[in-house]
Amino acid sequence: MSQEKEKRKLRSQEWFGKTDKMGFIYRSWMRNQGLPDHVFDGRPIIGICNTWSEFTPCNAHFREIAEYVKRGVYEAGGFPFEFPVMSLGETLLKPTAMLFRNLASMDAEESIRGNPMDGVILLAGCDKTTPSILMGAASVDLPSIVVSGGPMLNGKYKGRDIGSGTDVWRFTDDVRAGRITQEDYYYAEGCMSRSRGHCMTMGTASTMACMVEALGMGMPGNAAIPAVDARRRALAHMAGRRIVEMVHEDLKISKILTKQAFENAIMVNGAIGGSTNAIIHLLAIAGRLGVDLTLDDFDRVGSHIPLLVNLMPSGKFLMEDFYYAGGLPAVIRELKEHIHLEALTVNGKTIGDNNQDAPCYDRDVIASIERPFKARSGIAVLRGNLAKDGAVIKPSAADPLLMKHRGKAVVFENIEDYHARIDDPELEVDKNSVLVLKDVGPKGYPGMPEVGNMGLPKKLLAQGITDMVRISDGRMSGTAFGTVVLHVSPESAIGGTLAFVQNGDYIELDVENRRIHLDVSEEELEKRKKAWKGTDLGYFRGYASLYINHVQQAHLGADFDFLQGCSGCEVPRDSH
Ligand code: FES
Repeated sequence: MSQEKEKRKLRSQEWFGKTDKMGFIYRSWMRNQGLPDHVFDGRPIIGICNTWSEFTPCNAHFREIAEYVKRGVYEAGGFPFEFPVMSLGETLLKPTAMLFRNLASMDAEESIRGNPMDGVILLAGCDKTTPSILMGAASVDLPSIVVSGGPMLNGKYKGRDIGSGTDVWRFTDDVRAGRITQEDYYYAEGCMSRSRGHCMTMGTASTMACMVEALGMGMPGNAAIPAVDARRRALAHMAGRRIVEMVHEDLKISKILTKQAFENAIMVNGAIGGSTNAIIHLLAIAGRLGVDLTLDDFDRVGSHIPLLVNLMPSGKFLMEDFYYAGGLPAVIRELKEHIHLEALTVNGKTIGDNNQDAPCYDRDVIASIERPFKARSGIAVLRGNLAKDGAVIKPSAADPLLMKHRGKAVVFENIEDYHARIDDPELEVDKNSVLVLKDVGPKGYPGMPEVGNMGLPKKLLAQGITDMVRISDGRMSGTAFGTVVLHVSPESAIGGTLAFVQNGDYIELDVENRRIHLDVSEEELEKRKKAWKGTDLGYFRGYASLYINHVQQAHLGADFDFLQGCSGCEVPRDSH
């Protein structure tokens, strides 16, 4: 250790370096874990913030990953302590994991700040686990590295590759339309999820792992290494080594997560055909650091970036293929004319330096910028009387023929209404209709579930219809696809125009001109507004009540108003 390093007193010494009663208390109880004296000698203490849970299958292997992080920390002269935080499993948690993203972020924030650590490794995988702990860590601003858990191996079904989520929607339509049997449908379950890891499509988990790398918060190559590939463990080991150096360098999150880093992430999200959920999560993370990022930045910075990555749901390959083709470094290299090459990353080098020689081994999976997979990508931000504060659509996952469309609304007042009537043979709907779903926004559900890609009516599926315009204030799974307008803000439950759409109203979508319009006069809308009885939000106590009272709208990242900003890593008062 150099003299320079020895001089700086680390934060953990505010606990372990004391000679009084408090020092006794802080060390003595820790010694019951068999810790020798030198653990307390002022070496960097590294927290390993673990979102492991067997109810979060995508993160179920994280205890093992943590052991590899520890190897690196020991090797570099630090000492690691693993600790659990709330884990959000996308598939099981009701009513929706998104309801708890902000709660989990508070858990991570207070667990990091309140404990004696100098740096932290964030273990994340399943969709909401990445933004939640990154939001929490950003509000503390210690040196931090995200280690993603890695995607599952490709799904394999009857001789072909199938993707998490994306093929669930397809199989479900197939079984409803009678194209496959119920037995085939059951059989596909085991074929889809056949190794540890998170969804292996370019869903929200893979997108957020790519965002971590593009933001500079992960080690190069973090995004795509499959969960079961030994190189995922080697990366965890190297992250463990590196976080100790970062503590010595005092390289905090706020030095990495700059506006430039967020703009890089937005561009990369365009190139990978990433999830629309990334918009909400990046806005929320930026809000924690006071970085001035807005919804319009996603359109301004990202919509001219072509789609380079041919992965489901926008294309046909999967994360395993993506890794073998070169992974995210190959994509970042292709974007070198666009991104901010000088943005700093956790390994102490710039994103330009990290990726300048990244090879691409398969142009079918990762296209070049000169010959992209699709010219149109990114996120289009729509505005109009139906979404004054904005709505979003992902053109790469939508039917190009529906990008400009005018159709009659078929309205569902809430998700229960949708389930009850969508397959009613009497439902007045045809392929030109616009399906409208209300009360699935941040406050209205509450928690803004992933129901925006509502399935099509059975009778239209039977006619071979595969896409229709759908509009809601909810979200869509990153694994889903279709001409789906999402995140309508303000939401219906607080009296956004969406609340006043009625069956038979005409709605105009014009993605080219970024327009979403309800063709109803101002006078008529005013009349409907006066007659509106409001939405009964139905929660009067507990966390859901706190959520409804404080969650902001989608265009602001759906974070709590009182969580904006960073409280820093100052050591709180002693406990006794
Ligand atoms: Fe966990 Fe998709 S369900 S990543």
